[in-house]
Order: sequence, then structure tokens, then C-alpha cells
Amino acid sequence: MAPKHPMERLKKSPLFSLEKRGLKWLRRPVPLLSATLTLRDVGLALREMWLPSVTRQKKEMARLTQRVKEFLGVTHVGFYMGGRASLCAVMRTLELGPGDEVLIPAFTCQCVVNGLRYEGVNPVYVDIELESYGMDASKVEAAVTDRTRALLIQHTFGLPGRDLQALLDFARKKGLYIIEDCAHATGGMWRGKPLGTLGDIGFFSSERSKIINTIHGGFVVTNSNVLGPRLEEDQRRALEAPYDFVDRLFRTLIHSYLTLTSPLAPVTAPLAQWHLGRHLLPQMHEAEYSGAPCPQYHWRMPDSMASLMLNQVSAVESQLSRRRDAAEKWRGWALKHGFRPPVVSSDSEPTWLRFPLCMAPEVKADPQELEGLLGVTVGVWFQSAAHPLPLELAHCPNGMKASKCCINLPTLLPQSFAGWRRSMERGKFEQPL
Ligand SMILES: Cc1ncc(COP(=O)(O)O)c(C=O)c1O
Repeated sequence: MAPKHPMERLKKSPLFSLEKRGLKWLRRPVPLLSATLTLRDVGLALREMWLPSVTRQKKEMARLTQRVKEFLGVTHVGFYMGGRASLCAVMRTLELGPGDEVLIPAFTCQCVVNGLRYEGVNPVYVDIELESYGMDASKVEAAVTDRTRALLIQHTFGLPGRDLQALLDFARKKGLYIIEDCAHATGGMWRGKPLGTLGDIGFFSSERSKIINTIHGGFVVTNSNVLGPRLEEDQRRALEAPYDFVDRLFRTLIHSYLTLTSPLAPVTAPLAQWHLGRHLLPQMHEAEYSGAPCPQYHWRMPDSMASLMLNQVSAVESQLSRRRDAAEKWRGWALKHGFRPPVVSSDSEPTWLRFPLCMAPEVKADPQELEGLLGVTVGVWFQSAAHPLPLELAHCPNGMKASKCCINLPTLLPQSFAGWRRSMERGKFEQPL
């Protein structure tokens, strides 16, 4: 008899019947966004709104700079208004511009494409492998032209990719700059080195879907004596994000906590929506979808955000260990139910921003059923080669496949959820599938 589709088998679980009996409200889905926010972040945002102090903010920016340097073991850092703005700063630091090409994986975010294009640089897509969603080293050579200046290595979901060493070797051999996109990978390690320090320059994100969260934010790091001073000069010259934007950012942070993260969210969410709903910053602005110019890409991060980022960075280690535990649980769950977990390259410590799995395209197209079953929000990163930009790239079949099949599960699970999973593991709820 042909084996049943994994979703069919999953549906037999008693928790799924709970959903069917209309008791969905008993469980709030584990969020994918803003899961790292705490009441302390809310307090810090309120302090910056109501009691700003330039002297204190400057001191906190100096402390943040020092903290990031120590955390990643780097000599130079520059703070910008997002991972996307950080990528623009990387282009300027490397002195890349019109006519230059950068190789990027065909499974990324539109912000990456925009970050290059806004500096006049052309992105060139290279296919990925499906074991760890990294760039496929065997496909790089064919993408190189005499205008190629850099290779962007993206640690997707915080996983150092299968071909990382081969990609580093290739870029060095060809004299290309190595840029690490660590938007998903703050705190990850590979062969004893922090991600972000393997190449020439790396950039990080503190957008609300990431390992650290200041709603929007990011930074660039390098150990190069040539690039470092250029980066610092670029940060000094960049325009600071305007007050109105930063004020909305603080309000968005408070709103996110009250609607998504607070234990009292069922009560606080409607209040937050009523009071703050008009002020929210989107994850992407209208202009970005069409590739029209967007000022955020050229702003540096103001000192008033330093305390928030400092607070988030100080919680990274403990949160990463929770994420790694959750990834272990999802791995066991995946194996048990016939899904292939991602392959972790040896000697690496991923951050597991999310736990990716390839499922049937129907599951990704309509993940609600799976969400109901698992009690978590199911992520759909990425739905195109440069999400959400619609693209058909015939030369990148794996990127196309991942866009249709790869779903991703949250890894910051509340303690009660862990308890629930443990009960499942002990067999309390489990039925033979
Ligand atoms: C792989 C990747 N790189 C860069 C970015 C841009 O980061 P930010 O949202 O902070 O601009 C994102 C955003 O989701 C991303 O997924």
C-alpha cells in the first residue's frame, strides 16, 4: 500500500481534533515576529520617548559599539537603519557601484536585491542546495563575469551552508570580496569563528523577525584595516534616521510586545491596536516592493536606539540555547513524521532563527492546517528567489523549489509549549501514526 501523505498522518493527532472541535482559542500560536521582546524593551522605548538624554544616548552607543566588537571579535562596526541599509553601507565601503555585479543566492529577501540596486550594483542569482539552503558552490563559476566584484554568502535561517568552505575558497581564488549576510545569523559560529567574520565584511539585522529585535536596525562589521576606517567614515557621513521614524519605531515596538509577546496579549492586543495602531512602521515600505527609492536604505541608526539593541544583544546567548533546544525537538519531530531535517555542517553552531523543512507545495500555499496542528505560526520564507518579488529563474531550480516547498517553524518556544512537546514525547497525547 502506498504510504500516506505526511499531512494525512499528522491529521490523526488528537491535538488536531481539538482544533476541529472548535477549541482553537485555547492555544495562541507561537509567534514568528517579535518573540524576543521583553517588558524591559518596552520600558527602554518609553524612556527614550519621554526622557531622552543626548549624553546618556551617546554613552550607550559607545557601550553598544564595544559590546558588539567583543561579542563578534571585530575591530570595526557601523550601525544603520536596517540590514538593508547595512548592505548599502557595505557597497559603499567596498566602493562598488554602477556596472558592478554581486553574486547572491536565489533564495533571499527583496531587501537584499534592493540594497544592491539602490547603490547601482547588479545582483546575479546563483542556485542553492536543498540540504542547508546555502549557495551551491558547483553553480558559482558559471555566474562569474568580468564585472563580478563580490560573493554574498547568506547564512539562511542561521545555518552555515553545506558549501561554505568551497565558496570561501572560490571567492579568494577569483579575487572577489566576501560579504556575509548574517541577517539570520547573529551569534552563529563556524569552525570556532563567529559568522560575520569569515570574509571581508559582514552585516546583521535587528528587524523584528530576527535574532535580535529593535523593529528595524542593523550593523556592519569588519576586521580589515582598509575597509574599517571607510566603514566608520561612511557611518559618520550617513544621515541619521529622522525623529518621526524613530518615534514610530518605538511605538511599533511597544505595540509588537503588547500584541504578540506579552503573556496578557489577549487583553493588551486590542488596547495596543486602538492606541498605537495608527503609528506602526511596516516591515517593508510600499516603495520597496517596486524597487522605487526608499530613504531608510541610506540612514544610520540614531544613538537613541542603542539601549534597545544593547538589551537585545545581552540576551542573545540564552536565547540561542533555547533556539538550539527547540531545533533539536523539531528535528526529532520531523524525522518521526517523515520529513527531512536540514543538514548541519560539521563544526558549526547555527542560530536556528527558524527551523526549515521542505513540505508539499500545498502545505506552503495554505499553512493554516499545519499551524492549527502545531500551535505555532508557520513561516513561509522565502516565497520567491527574492521574496516577495515574483521571479522565475530557470537556471535556479532549487531556489524555485525551495520557494514553493520550504516552510519554517519558530524556535523561540514558550516554556509551556516545551512542556506540551515533552508530554507529546512521553506519549501522553501521541497516537500511533
Ligand atoms: C537574508 C536576509 N538578508 C537581509 C535582510 C534585510 O534585513 P532588514 O530587514 O534588517 O533590512 C533580510 C530581511 O528579512 C533577510 O532575510
